Amino acid sequence: MKSNKILPWTVVALCIAFFAIAGLFVRYMLKTEETFARLKSEPGVLETIATRASVRMFDKTRAVEEEKIKELLKAGFAAPTAVDKRPWEFVVVTEPETLAALDAVHPHARIGNGASLVIAVCGTLDNGLDGRAKEYWIQDCSAATQNILLAAHGLGLGAVWCGVHPIEERVAGVKRVLGIPEGYAPLNLITIGYPAVHPAPKNKWDDAKIHRNRW
Ligand SMILES: Cc1cc2nc3c(=O)[nH]c(=O)nc-3n(C[C@H](O)[C@H](O)[C@H](O)COP(=O)(O)O)c2cc1C
Repeated sequence: MKSNKILPWTVVALCIAFFAIAGLFVRYMLKTEETFARLKSEPGVLETIATRASVRMFDKTRAVEEEKIKELLKAGFAAPTAVDKRPWEFVVVTEPETLAALDAVHPHARIGNGASLVIAVCGTLDNGLDGRAKEYWIQDCSAATQNILLAAHGLGLGAVWCGVHPIEERVAGVKRVLGIPEGYAPLNLITIGYPAVHPAPKNKWDDAKIHRNRW
C-alpha cells in the first residue's frame, strides 16, 4: 500500500529532473551555436592586426561606453611583462575638463578632435627588477598599449598612441594634470573615440628588413 503511494511521486520527480536536464542541454547547445556564429562573423586576430591604423578624428556625438572601457583595460592587463612584474597603472580619463587639460599639455595627442576617452598608460619606475632590467617597464607598458590599440580597433573604436615619456615637458605636464605620484611615469596617452574617419592601414612590409638565420 505504502509503496504504491511513493511510486507516482518518484515518477513525477524523475520527469521533472529529466526535463530540467534536457532544458539545460538545449540551452547549452543554443549558446554554443550562437558563440560559433559570432566567432565566424568577427574578424580574426590577424585581420584585426592588419587593418588597424591610427585614428585622429573622432565622432563628437558618441562617447565610449563603460563596457568597452572595461574591455580595453582587460586587453591592457593581458599583456606580457618581464618576470610577470606588471609594472603599470592605467588612468582612465572621460571628464571633459581633464581631457581639455591633457590636450593643452600634449598638443599632438589630438584629444580636441572629438575624443571622449584617454587612457594614460603609466609605468612603475621601480618594477622590482635589478640594474638595467628596471627599464623593462617601457616594453611592458608598450605591450599593454598595443593590446589596447588592437582591442579598440576590434571594438569598432578609433585610437592613437601619443608618446609622452621620455619627452620631459610632456611627462611633467601629464603628471601635473593627472596627479601622477613620484615613482610613476606616463609612457603615453591613448586617445580614443568612435572614428569619424577610417584611414587605410599602411603597407609596411619590407623584404630588406628581414634577415634569415644571420644578419
Ligand atoms: C612612441 C610613439 C609615439 C607616438 N606619438 C604620437 C603623437 O604624439 N601624436 C600622434 O598623432 N601619433 C603618435 N604616434 C602614432 C604614430 O604616428 C603612428 O603609429 C605612425 O604614424 C604609424 O601609423 P599607423 O599607426 O596608422 O600604422 C606615436 C606612436 C608611437 C609608437
